[in-house]
Amino acid sequence: MKKSLILASALALTMQVSAQTELRTTSKDTYTIPAEIYGQFAEHLGRCIYDGIWVGKDSKIPNQDGYRTDVLNALKDLKVPVLRWPGGCFADTYHWRDGVGPAKDRPRIKNVFWGGTMEDNSFGTDEFFTLCEKLGCKTYLSVNVGSGSVKDMNDWLEYITGTESCPNVDYRKKNGREKPYKIDYIGIGNESWGCGGNMRPEFYSDLYRQYSGYAHLYSNSTYPKRVASGSNDFDYNWTEVLMKRAGNNMEHISLHYYVLPIRDWNGSKGPDRGFQENQYFTVIRDGYKMDELIKGHLEVIAKYNKNVKLDVDEWGIWTDQEPGSIPGYLYQQNTLRDALLASTTLDIFHKYADRLGMCNIAQIINVLQAMVLTKDDKMVLTPTYHVFKMYAVHQNAEYITTDFKSPKYTFKGESIDAISSTLSKKDGAYHLTVSNVDSKNKQTITLNLADIKAASVTKSEIITSKSFADYNSFENPNVVKPAAFNGATVKKGVLTVELPPMSIVTVEIK
Ligand code: AHR
Repeated sequence: MKKSLILASALALTMQVSAQTELRTTSKDTYTIPAEIYGQFAEHLGRCIYDGIWVGKDSKIPNQDGYRTDVLNALKDLKVPVLRWPGGCFADTYHWRDGVGPAKDRPRIKNVFWGGTMEDNSFGTDEFFTLCEKLGCKTYLSVNVGSGSVKDMNDWLEYITGTESCPNVDYRKKNGREKPYKIDYIGIGNESWGCGGNMRPEFYSDLYRQYSGYAHLYSNSTYPKRVASGSNDFDYNWTEVLMKRAGNNMEHISLHYYVLPIRDWNGSKGPDRGFQENQYFTVIRDGYKMDELIKGHLEVIAKYNKNVKLDVDEWGIWTDQEPGSIPGYLYQQNTLRDALLASTTLDIFHKYADRLGMCNIAQIINVLQAMVLTKDDKMVLTPTYHVFKMYAVHQNAEYITTDFKSPKYTFKGESIDAISSTLSKKDGAYHLTVSNVDSKNKQTITLNLADIKAASVTKSEIITSKSFADYNSFENPNVVKPAAFNGATVKKGVLTVELPPMSIVTVEIK
């Protein structure tokens, strides 16, 4: 949705950081920030589905048709645009027939990738699509390429989207659903270079061509947006080979990038809380690498098919699991550090939003960088949840390109940008979001609103806390949360924002 605007003439905006740095809008193209950048991911992993969203109708935990009421309401407030399911690695072990029909007849299966847990399949296809309807979000279905077949995929797609009477469609109707469901995105495999089949890119490309050719909806024979299983972080060769061989058979290609406080996949990744500044710094520094990663993969994609969108359909921080939690469940706490990782990453996504299709943080509940944590009948909203909610103003807003030289946050001789920001416009209001990642120094931002003489701050909020390691526990759920902010003022057409160290601020200007 690009439209050319000469922004400088329409609106001359100037931002100064620490009274030194000027930010200017440029005369570049502008575009709409797709809401799907705020996408979520729900895998059958640990307590994401079971305990997280699904407790079943007979649970003592208050629920609506088996979905826990507290979590459902929290997610509705978050304006989730799209939800990816059922995995992750789990997707390439998932056989959809196990998860349909009367719950009592569904087989128990072992979740081989995640803790070897036995699961009862009480959450399956109908439960997923019904959840998306309750949330009002788009659906992103990952199909099993690693251990499935084209026929399994087709039967599943027919069950979900078919309209004419046939065994799969009749079965769906027998299970209580007359109308077909809507599939917006279909992922053809997941991490096919790893848990999804250990394939070479050459082999996966051929398999992708085969599966994607049959991945049509049965309601109208069109394709949903087909997402090819993309690269692991800096593996540009995977993208190159796949684009070269199958770049005309896809609408999207994915990319996975996790930030680890200690980048050692086989050893300790660093604690989820109680860490020191070195691991705070490393996480923010490595989070910024998302910029070069997206840029690099987009360059490769553009060589073969510029229309293919890039989806960062797994991202976030991956720490050691919370002490005492079940091994393999990837349950971790969520701190102010993680909130700043989220805000700075979302700013990067906005910058490339004309070429990104969607992004899905991993994962929505109780797994990795979660929005929500649950324990029995209790629920906690994480600092990352609060960032996603504050930043929702950018969903479907017009991105305004800006330029500025950030002051530096220096730790042990290494320096990174202290300031990250996004400016967008929607429904007659401007929204500026700014993060100051510096652990000690405050920053002053000024924004000259030359063309908005009557502009005033109509709302401003801040997320901050004393320590980067602060988090919300079940005992103290409100340690890190948004508060009204009075440090954003407009005088004579100049907006001044005083940002404390380690803070995220949103300002609405009308
Ligand atoms: O999000 C957890 C896991 O990380 C996913 O199952 C997999 O795709 C990735 O390796």
